[in-house]
Amino acid sequence: MVNPHIDSLFHWLDSSPTPFHVVNTAQAALHDAGFVLHDGLSNSLASRGYFIRDGALVAWSLGDTHAPFRIVGAHTDSPNLRIQPNPDVVSHGWAQLGIEIYGGVLLNSWLDRDLGIAGRVVSSDGSTTLFSINEPLARIPQLAIHLDREINDRGLQLDRHQHTVPVWGVQTPVFSEWLQDVVGVTSISAFDAHLFDIQKAACLGVDSSLIASARLDNQLSCWAAIHGLIHSQSSYACIAVLNDHEEVGSESTTGAGGPLLDSLLAIIDSQQDASVGQSHDRRLASWCLSADNAHAIHPNYRERHEPRHAPLPNNGVALKLNGNQRYATSARGASHIRNVAESKDVPLQTFVSRNNMPCGSTIGPITATRLGIDAIDVGVPQLSMHSIREMCGAEDPGHLLNLVQAFLAF
Ligand code: CO
Repeated sequence: MVNPHIDSLFHWLDSSPTPFHVVNTAQAALHDAGFVLHDGLSNSLASRGYFIRDGALVAWSLGDTHAPFRIVGAHTDSPNLRIQPNPDVVSHGWAQLGIEIYGGVLLNSWLDRDLGIAGRVVSSDGSTTLFSINEPLARIPQLAIHLDREINDRGLQLDRHQHTVPVWGVQTPVFSEWLQDVVGVTSISAFDAHLFDIQKAACLGVDSSLIASARLDNQLSCWAAIHGLIHSQSSYACIAVLNDHEEVGSESTTGAGGPLLDSLLAIIDSQQDASVGQSHDRRLASWCLSADNAHAIHPNYRERHEPRHAPLPNNGVALKLNGNQRYATSARGASHIRNVAESKDVPLQTFVSRNNMPCGSTIGPITATRLGIDAIDVGVPQLSMHSIREMCGAEDPGHLLNLVQAFLAF
């Protein structure tokens, strides 16, 4: 049986080719649930509201005055290829688009895929317009095996600059003129334009027990954070924060290293007349759940995983621990989230990486450091992380959603 959450998740993934679209998709869900959009945070906060800045969003449900915070965080960005400001290249009869690589892209996975283009344009008056052209517009063609005979033994070697340039036709218009036409804005002064795989999210496997999609890392967690908040019934001050730029270090106005969440917490405190001491103690009593996908054990590469801490598909959300603080989970945090999970029968697994394998990080440690709020790192186990098309178990998104809901109320 296909899990009832899958349609909602697939709609989210297919509607959100860029961080700006993730925020837009979240906004639609929040709006439908009666959350109030705030243009700024100087006026009195609605009891359920949200605020957007570029590719980041914070949403809240205030709960009781001075109640501790329950924060769920995830990131809106995924590694991808972005079109350069002056992209037009004509080379030996082919029209190509110059690109910039964003984050840790698994480059080979972008070869021979049908790519669309999405993003936003900024007009000279400062207004922004989202666009998404969901058609096969571009492709990065792989070199034929006849011209690269040793590839299967030697491995694919790609020069990051020379071999990643997509073809987008033969006699094409200048990119900026094409963009003006398709978006319908005449005074474009700048743009963010990202390539994306036009293949839609799908169930996978003879038993449909798996799902495959672009950007599961980390839109799956964004989806769970927003829908968890919408459906939560809690007396705590509940917050969902979706940050941009996690894949490149989180240092920006909209990244987890920026002030967005800290500002919101300070504003909530000030509107509830909390003293400095009360604000401090409120943070001591609060928890942040940092949700970002984890590595499931890969059946072809078992030796890359720590065997007693290797998550399986459809066996629940992975609790991520790292003594070197690449993940923020402490033993107290692990105990708290186990109690949360037990309260609603949500299965949990444990992920620890091998000592000889570098471990990725998340917004958890950054958020904990900035706010002084204990964070717990969790995530759905997946394969093919940072590939153009990732995969995970079809039951696990529902497990994460249930965990988020339980966490917000526990
Ligand atoms: Co991630």
